[in-house]
Amino acid sequence: MESSGSSNWRAVEGDFPLDDEPALRGGPLSVPIPNAQLRATSSISDIGSWYAIGEAWAQIAMRFMPPDPTVLDIGCGCGKMARFFSLVPNLRYLGVDLFLPSIRWCEKAFLGLAGGRFKFEHFDGISEVYNPAGTVRPSDYQFPADDGSIDMTICAALFTHLLEEDCMHYLAEIRRVSKPGGLALVSIHNEPPQGKRFDGDESRIDIDEDYFLELARRCKMGCRRRIGNVYGQQVLLLEAID
Ligand SMILES: C[S@@+](CC[C@H](N)C(=O)[O-])C[C@H]1O[C@@H](n2cnc3c(N)ncnc32)[C@H](O)[C@@H]1O
Repeated sequence: MESSGSSNWRAVEGDFPLDDEPALRGGPLSVPIPNAQLRATSSISDIGSWYAIGEAWAQIAMRFMPPDPTVLDIGCGCGKMARFFSLVPNLRYLGVDLFLPSIRWCEKAFLGLAGGRFKFEHFDGISEVYNPAGTVRPSDYQFPADDGSIDMTICAALFTHLLEEDCMHYLAEIRRVSKPGGLALVSIHNEPPQGKRFDGDESRIDIDEDYFLELARRCKMGCRRRIGNVYGQQVLLLEAID
C-alpha cells in the first residue's frame, strides 16, 4: 500500500477530498480513522504519531479529571483525543471546531458510539488558515456551554493558531464555562523571537510561556501544573481561580 506521506492539505483546492486512501473502518471497539489529509489538518498525517499524540493527551487529561466529567474540546479537529475519551464510561464530551470537514467527519464517525454522550459542533469562525471565508470573529465567539458547567476544557494545538485578541477572549471563555476549580489542558509553542512575547500568524503562533500564564491569570485561570513538552508543544494545566 502506498504511504500517505506528508500531504500538504493547505494546497488542496475545491472540495476537501475524503478518498485519498481506502477507508479504515473502526472495529467493534474503535472509532474509524480519518484519512491522511484530515489527519494532517490536526497536526500530522502519519497514523502512528497521530495515535500516539492523541493517547498522550488523553492519558494526561484523565489523570486530572473528576469522576463522570464533562469535557469541552475547543479546536477538536478530527477526534484525535475524543476517540480515547470515548472509552471512558460516563464522560460527556462536546467538541467544537471551525473547520467543517473535521466536524462532519466526527459526527459520522462517532454516531451511535458512546451512548450519545459525544457531540460535535461547527461554528463559522474566521481563520486565515482553516476557514478564511468564515463569518464570525473568534473574539466574538461564545463557547456553546453554560457558565460554570465544564470540568475540563481541552485546547490541544489551538493557542498555537490564535492571534493575541482571540487568545485573550478564549481564555476568558474557558474561565466562564469552567466549574469552580475546573481545569483546562492547553498547549502553546513557546519560542517567540528574542524580545517578543507573542509572535506569528495563524499558521503558527509562539508565546512566551510566562506571558501566556500572565494572560491566563488576568482571566482568572491560574497555573496548576507545567506538564512539559508533549510532542513538540508545551502543555500547561490551568485551573479556575477566584
Ligand atoms: C493543529 S489542529 C489540532 C486539532 C486537535 N485539537 C488535535 O490535537 O488533533 C488545530 C485545530 O484548531 C482549529 N481552530 C483553529 N482556529 C480555531 C478557533 N479560533 N476556534 C476553534 N478552533 C480553531 C482548526 O480548525 C484545527 O482543527
